[in-house]
Amino acid sequence: MIEPLPADLTLVIPCYNEAPNVVPLIEGVKRALEGMKWEIVFVDDNSPDGTARAVEQAAQADPRVRLIRRVGRRGLSSAVIEGALSSTAPVIAVMDGDLQHDEGILRDLVTPLLENRADIAVASRHVEGGDSSGLANRWRHMLSQAGIRLAQSILPMTLTDPMSGFFAMRRPLFEQAVPKLTGTGFKILLEIVLSVPDTARLIEVPFVFRPRVAGESKLSPLVMVQFLGMLIERAFGGWLPTRFIIFATVGLIGIAVNLLVSELSRFGGADFQLSQVIGTACAILINFQLNNRITYLDRPLRGKRWLPGLCIFVIGATIGAVGNIGVAQLLYDTHWHWSGASAAGAVIGVVWNYAIASTLVWR
Ligand code: GDD
Ligand code: MN
Repeated sequence: MIEPLPADLTLVIPCYNEAPNVVPLIEGVKRALEGMKWEIVFVDDNSPDGTARAVEQAAQADPRVRLIRRVGRRGLSSAVIEGALSSTAPVIAVMDGDLQHDEGILRDLVTPLLENRADIAVASRHVEGGDSSGLANRWRHMLSQAGIRLAQSILPMTLTDPMSGFFAMRRPLFEQAVPKLTGTGFKILLEIVLSVPDTARLIEVPFVFRPRVAGESKLSPLVMVQFLGMLIERAFGGWLPTRFIIFATVGLIGIAVNLLVSELSRFGGADFQLSQVIGTACAILINFQLNNRITYLDRPLRGKRWLPGLCIFVIGATIGAVGNIGVAQLLYDTHWHWSGASAAGAVIGVVWNYAIASTLVWR
């Protein structure tokens, strides 16, 4: 017999291209939470592999399964936030949709919360009894360790696994955190922990991170950049938005590209002005792509919106580039060093581009 709703526990599962994992995951949860009143909310970003269809079919068979489908947006953190906001249960748990998280510990995770003995429970790979051997390779392992150390340095409490995507929280606590969440990147737990009062009661439950069987990890270097952006934002007390930090970082890459390419074209025989034009054009194109894939990862321009977006970006950047080249030329003429004049011009271009990008391109 299926337990009637309302649920005591909402399990939020962010998923992107996890179609083959949907049914095994539901079966595992059913077994693990036997006798409890639960619901599962899958938050799918319109995965091309038919994840939503798999969830739909499961929901037809079991009313405890729900689907939130987002179109035109991507992002693990924002998916988790939206799934959690759709819950009316007293406790919310978050778990990956790829079977890497052991649903067997769900009960240990949520029971202290249901009994109001704790506010947040984190499944940790790094307390006695936990294990992260499922991390794909040594490189991932090192990255993970570095991230933990970095995160720990800004955390008000000890959290052995702040990167864990497997945790549960009491809903009132989540609602307190919501206004402060940026929803960018992968590290939603870290953001939540940083957004609740220091008095929040936190417990950790060991678990073994399983290797992925089907599908592939979506954790990319881009996600790392977002994570760094978030840490810097928090370190600054939140007044410098992550998006701006990322945009500025992308801008720095643009400056490097600009310098490198203009230097190369100078070696190739271009005069100063031509080398500036070539360098700036390369920087604009690379900046557009990086911004589309990192800075505005949550609302990238795709399909029919890509080209118009690029056009506006290029027009804006061209106007900026005129200023860029003008300033560089002016400084060069007043006997500034070649690369100093170049860099000053590029900085002005980047500030201008940010204004255009955030108001006209990625609206
Ligand atoms: N809706 C949605 N949108 N879901 C997503 C997105 C997205 O853009 N990107 C990833 N997911 C889902 C995946 O389908 C999966 O269910 C879960 O989020 C985690 O993504 P993975 O790609 O499997 O991440 P991982 O295994 O590399 O990372 C794990 O370890 C990290 C710490 O090392 C996860 O547990 C992370 O949550 C954790 O931070
Ligand atoms: Mn995974």
